[in-house]
Amino acid sequence: MQLSPRLLKIASLVPKCHTIADVGTDHGYIPLVCIDRGIASHAIAMDINPMPLKRAKDNFVKHGYMHQAQFRLSDGLAQLKSGEADVIVIAGMGGPLICDIIKNGAHAIDDNTLLLLQPMIAPIELRSFLFANGYRVCDEYVVREDNKYYNIMAVRKGEAQPTDELIYIGANLAANSTDTIGDYLDYKIRVCQGIIEGHSRSACPDAEAIEKFSHELAIYQSCKKELTK
Ligand SMILES: C[S@@+](CC[C@H](N)C(=O)[O-])C[C@H]1O[C@@H](n2cnc3c(N)ncnc32)[C@H](O)[C@@H]1O
Repeated sequence: MQLSPRLLKIASLVPKCHTIADVGTDHGYIPLVCIDRGIASHAIAMDINPMPLKRAKDNFVKHGYMHQAQFRLSDGLAQLKSGEADVIVIAGMGGPLICDIIKNGAHAIDDNTLLLLQPMIAPIELRSFLFANGYRVCDEYVVREDNKYYNIMAVRKGEAQPTDELIYIGANLAANSTDTIGDYLDYKIRVCQGIIEGHSRSACPDAEAIEKFSHELAIYQSCKKELTK
């Protein structure tokens, strides 16, 4: 099974467990590799669309793991009962959609559930939502694949004090992703600088946006400075 660095990293963060549920499973590779490696005994692969769910099923058939898996047509966590899965993966979707899935699927998440979240966009909005809704981002990782950076968050229920670093960069990111963190921060700094310059050159500069991105830029620069000390 040939997995991309993003999928491999997510799978590597799944601890030994009884059941992994994968929301928006598509190809089903994350639960499949967890079963194949003996990390999970059982998988619940879920998708809102029948075609991706069939793709996942076909891959499980191909690898001979059908007896360890269930396939559920489900909008988010709607078809998952409380306590059914000890690990829930929600990967490859936008941050706002992941927020909605967690908000609407709170019944399926208890104090023992580990959530592994990988937003394609809007990680800051996702972290803010988690802090505001009784979730704690315990650890965060960043993976580079095809010149793109992907944030992966390990999340549990619990209260935590949100700091700028936790909201904008992520919990323990520098320690967890030593190979990537420097380049990642440089990239984030370049993006913020580009946005600020664009707004500043405009005929009627958006002062609010300039202030917002200047704040974000200062956090990345300060983290980079700490890193190079
Ligand atoms: C880009 S794929 C990501 C596949 C895989 N999780 C990954 O990270 O590579 C997104 C998948 O999420 C599914 N999806 C979108 N909205 C969903 C929802 N509300 N509930 C469940 N699945 C959803 C889509 O059908 C699609 O198969």
